[in-house]
Amino acid sequence: MRTSGSSLAPPRPLWLLAELTYRCPLQCPYCSNPVDIARYRDELTTEEWVRVFSEARALGAVQLGFSGVEALVRKDLEILIAEAHALGFYTNLLTSGIGMDERRIRAFKDAGLDHIQISFQASNAELNDFIAGNDSFHHKREMARLVKAYDYPMVLCFVLHRHNTDQVAEILDMAYALKADYVELATTQYYGWALLNRDQLLPTREQVERAEAVAHRYQQEFAGRIKILYVVPDYYEDRPKACMKGWGSIFLTIAPDGTALPCHAAGSLPGLSFPNVREHGIEWIWNASPDFNRFRGFDWMKEPCRSCPEQTKDFGGCRCQAYLLTGDAANADPVCAKSPHHAELGRRVQAIADAPSGNTVPLVFRNMRNSKRRIESHP
Ligand code: FES
Repeated sequence: MRTSGSSLAPPRPLWLLAELTYRCPLQCPYCSNPVDIARYRDELTTEEWVRVFSEARALGAVQLGFSGVEALVRKDLEILIAEAHALGFYTNLLTSGIGMDERRIRAFKDAGLDHIQISFQASNAELNDFIAGNDSFHHKREMARLVKAYDYPMVLCFVLHRHNTDQVAEILDMAYALKADYVELATTQYYGWALLNRDQLLPTREQVERAEAVAHRYQQEFAGRIKILYVVPDYYEDRPKACMKGWGSIFLTIAPDGTALPCHAAGSLPGLSFPNVREHGIEWIWNASPDFNRFRGFDWMKEPCRSCPEQTKDFGGCRCQAYLLTGDAANADPVCAKSPHHAELGRRVQAIADAPSGNTVPLVFRNMRNSKRRIESHP
């Protein structure tokens, strides 16, 4: 029997992420979506998405995240939410808030949306709008206020990197002023655009330690009022994250063109050609497609993961990061101190922290123009 990463039960795609579109009004250079977004023109239709939801639900999916990059770009979002709600999903909207207004928030409520998470780029308009590539800070704040007024829990997300890691206190003061219920201080994940900009985005170890101390102080101060999640950048850890809770274990991502993926970054792995929901049903994709089985369970592991007692906890870390940093997705994630590539990662991180170019080389902003340029130069 095929098993999930953590138990003997067959895996079920409990968490479905619908990346409705790669279009986005913002241009964040820390985006972990693919750099070749310009290739993704042929988005799934409303009817195709509803079929995907229905098939995933029949297979046991319970939570559905609407993302993209910016799901609000889709004019049929209200219809999709209503369909997902009718199927019995718990539904989340992960959004920048740009493209939202009170009329849409009311429509989302009527359609049965359960949860809205709004992301900010910084605690002030100057840095927020620089990173986002447009004037969005004040609108986001207004949308956060409205989300609360419409009786959603207020969930705010800040992706931390070198330019805003020193703002953690101001970020949490702002969250308190907005009456947030939950704040996620997420760390930049170095895939896609973020990897392109890694030398300019990776914070120093000193920044990370300061930010962590501030986050812990606020966690104690706001205990019982705001739940604060702080995630240390895994490049500074010595044990890897349990990425996706194991490949093909509970997460199923559908890209805008219908490509089914075990994680949002797997499309970058060579030698795999992920199935598309236009050609296959979700049941076959999840249970039988070779690519969803490629790193499922433990049999694919090489040393040191193969004999590691922690394999059931971390599943060898992240397959995409293992590939991006070592050239082989079956290697242990080099974040792990047991990996033979760990020392090399440490040297690279130190070199990035020491290099003056990290502060002088311009960021590559995520937009269609830059994507087309990258496609032309890396066909
Ligand atoms: Fe792909 Fe971690 S992001 S396995």
